[in-house]
Amino acid sequence: MLPELEINKDFEQLKYNVKELLNFNTFQYKDTYLGRRFASRLRALHLDTYHDYWEILKKDINEQEKLLQELTINVTEFFRDSPVWDVISSDVLPTILKEKQGKIRMWSAGSSDGKEAYSIAMMCAKILGENELFNKVEIIGTDIDRDCINHAAGGKYISRPGLIQTDIKKQLSFIVTPEKFFDITGDVFQVKHSIKKIVNFEYHDLISGSKKHNYDIILCRNVVIYFTRQLQEVLYKDFYDALNHGGFFIMGKTETLVGEARNLFIPYNLKERIFRKG
Ligand SMILES: C[S@@+](CC[C@H](N)C(=O)[O-])C[C@H]1O[C@@H](n2cnc3c(N)ncnc32)[C@H](O)[C@@H]1O
Repeated sequence: MLPELEINKDFEQLKYNVKELLNFNTFQYKDTYLGRRFASRLRALHLDTYHDYWEILKKDINEQEKLLQELTINVTEFFRDSPVWDVISSDVLPTILKEKQGKIRMWSAGSSDGKEAYSIAMMCAKILGENELFNKVEIIGTDIDRDCINHAAGGKYISRPGLIQTDIKKQLSFIVTPEKFFDITGDVFQVKHSIKKIVNFEYHDLISGSKKHNYDIILCRNVVIYFTRQLQEVLYKDFYDALNHGGFFIMGKTETLVGEARNLFIPYNLKERIFRKG
């Protein structure tokens, strides 16, 4: 059986073929990451070589979809890593709400099925009240996984107790009154219209997509970690450029700022990986 990662000629060829076939830029992801994702599909199909895998992949649309799903790990939660949400709620949002006159624009980059974008929307609603919310806040969630974008836009989540990622009830224990923000029927949690109307979702590839501008808060958590160091440097600078003066950049718990952006951003809360554009 194939080891977790064997970088050989076939591996490089598969990377190239996947990029051409699926328009997924494999060359910007870490080899260790790709190796694990490919190995998982090879195991599922009981194959031993990248070459054999390619022979199936090029003909089988189902397998192409499965590989894309494998490559875009979508794990997410409402209020994932709760300590950072404490700081967003007690410091980041009150500061930006006090300082900014017009509408506050937020971007959840790599938003998966939307839980991060809705989490910050609910937090804004808690602080501002639902009437003010629409005039004051606008949120966009972007991702390269189209299924995720569609799921996010529908705003419907099913709670399956057991795994934390699927246990919506547990995730929402962060907020005292989830019924204010969801229509809840049994295990089905439907985000209310008052929250949905300030959040939009769209397809956007952080690697090749257009540059974005004029944001006051950007969350990009648990996405960039899979990219090469060179690409991370470019993206962190892109996020810096995309922020308004005084804007906040919020990273994932295990991520580290690298490149030029490291000297440009002002640390705001290092423990929770929150930075500010001075
Ligand atoms: C692990 S999830 C993180 C979701 C959320 N930010 C969180 O921290 O809970 C990573 C997401 O990044 C997306 N992603 C991967 N490569 C991307 C790219 N090049 N452009 C945009 N999104 C990407 C994946 O589709 C996936 O939904």
